[in-house]
Amino acid sequence: MDNTKPRLVIVVGSVREGRFGPVVASWTARQARLHGGFDVKVVDLADVDLPLELPAASPKHAGDDYPRPAGMAALTAALDRADAFAVVTPEYNHSYPAALKAAIDWHFTQWAAKPVAFVSYGGAAGGRHAVLHLENVLTELHAVTVRDGLAFPNYFTAWADGSPADPQAGGYAKVLLDQLAWWARALRTARAAAPYPG
Ligand SMILES: Cc1cc2nc3c(=O)[nH]c(=O)nc-3n(C[C@H](O)[C@H](O)[C@H](O)COP(=O)(O)O)c2cc1C
Repeated sequence: MDNTKPRLVIVVGSVREGRFGPVVASWTARQARLHGGFDVKVVDLADVDLPLELPAASPKHAGDDYPRPAGMAALTAALDRADAFAVVTPEYNHSYPAALKAAIDWHFTQWAAKPVAFVSYGGAAGGRHAVLHLENVLTELHAVTVRDGLAFPNYFTAWADGSPADPQAGGYAKVLLDQLAWWARALRTARAAAPYPG
């Protein structure tokens, strides 16, 4: 039985110049550290070499020798080691950023049988369309998406000094993190007991 804290990787999904994403990701990381149930790491896709041109073979059947760029190695290692993910995503044209899709598509086994929670932000819908698309895509990769999410509509008025204005936001984050921690431990135990048949 592994009693260490599950490793949570928080993915900053936007790489846009002048982006708001790191503010949301930093707050999310603070909530996760306050929660205490995770070993927390933030991975910023802006720091990753993420070409859109993929190798001929699918990463689904590839081993460790899958030809990823050197500038992607730290991301791949973090995804490999993760027991849980929190994806921080904005909404672009009713979906999620292309950099996030590239980061997903360059990997496969790294997502399988692991839980993913979403923290989204944007205009009126608070990134909900982006999350709906991510749920579809990550299910294809055998990830387990957490039903509850944190969504911040109209983030430009709903955040101040690096935190949501809503005083209940920390409480909502704790509920989400409790669910994510439950899945992280359950699936880590299951992966250790038997290889996932996917
Ligand atoms: C190309 C583009 C498309 C966008 N489309 C939407 C949209 O469909 N719905 C929405 O609520 N906000 C939309 N927005 C607003 C973004 O959610 C907002 O600018 C947010 O700050 C983007 O996150 P970022 O600053 O981390 O890049 C769009 C922004 C951009 C740059």
